[in-house]
Amino acid sequence: MAEIIVALDVNTGAEAIRLLDRLPEARWVKVGSRIMTREGGGLIQRLTDRGLAVFLDLKWHDIPHTVVGAVEAAHELGVAMASVHALGGGEVLAAAAAAAGGTALVGITVLTCHDQASFGAVIGRRDVVMRDEVARLASLAVSSGLSGVVCSPMEVGHVRTEIGRAPWIVVPGIRRAGDRREDQRRVATPRQAVSDGATHLVVGRPIVSARDPRKVFLQIRDEVEACIRA
Ligand code: C5P
Repeated sequence: MAEIIVALDVNTGAEAIRLLDRLPEARWVKVGSRIMTREGGGLIQRLTDRGLAVFLDLKWHDIPHTVVGAVEAAHELGVAMASVHALGGGEVLAAAAAAAGGTALVGITVLTCHDQASFGAVIGRRDVVMRDEVARLASLAVSSGLSGVVCSPMEVGHVRTEIGRAPWIVVPGIRRAGDRREDQRRVATPRQAVSDGATHLVVGRPIVSARDPRKVFLQIRDEVEACIRA
């Protein structure tokens, strides 16, 4: 079954723990730059002590030596999954994969804040087709030895066709029908993302900002389960 990863997009470890006290069924959490910069590795320890699988989403994009050091540190901290930018290139990705031990590394393809024009400007081409760029980077990540990729809901089906059945596809921008999109432009329902091939759904504000986070978490879980039975 696809996993639901709760994005701990809050300011402090204490807030994160209070949220998790209200989410007894949560199995995965995402720690990003915001809370990691404030709390450091001690937070990871507290989360793994609670039996949670941690996705450390720091999107490393650096030279091989530095990325390898970060990957090793994440592995020592007991991180289950971590992200590295596919744009770093094959050498970085292969070195990171070789250093990962039991930590699953996933490659960031194209950030969801890009549109065709802004990504074209970054890589110096006007004629980019976003879906193809994402699939190309996903393929590079997986052929370099990574466990999977991160992509937007718009590209999941295309990426799944490109990389085959086994690799993980981690998908943010998940909204139930009727949820507010906030700043996410490219969203999908849990059902849509899973039926297109997602293995992990990253959900932030729909759960974190809810009056009853557990109720939303369980609704999303039910939707994922129903999709798998269908
Ligand atoms: O609140 P929301 O559900 O939109 O949060 C989505 C989470 O996924 C945030 O932590 C955001 O940083 C992350 N993310 C994203 N787009 C990406 C990669 C990660 O929204 N391409």
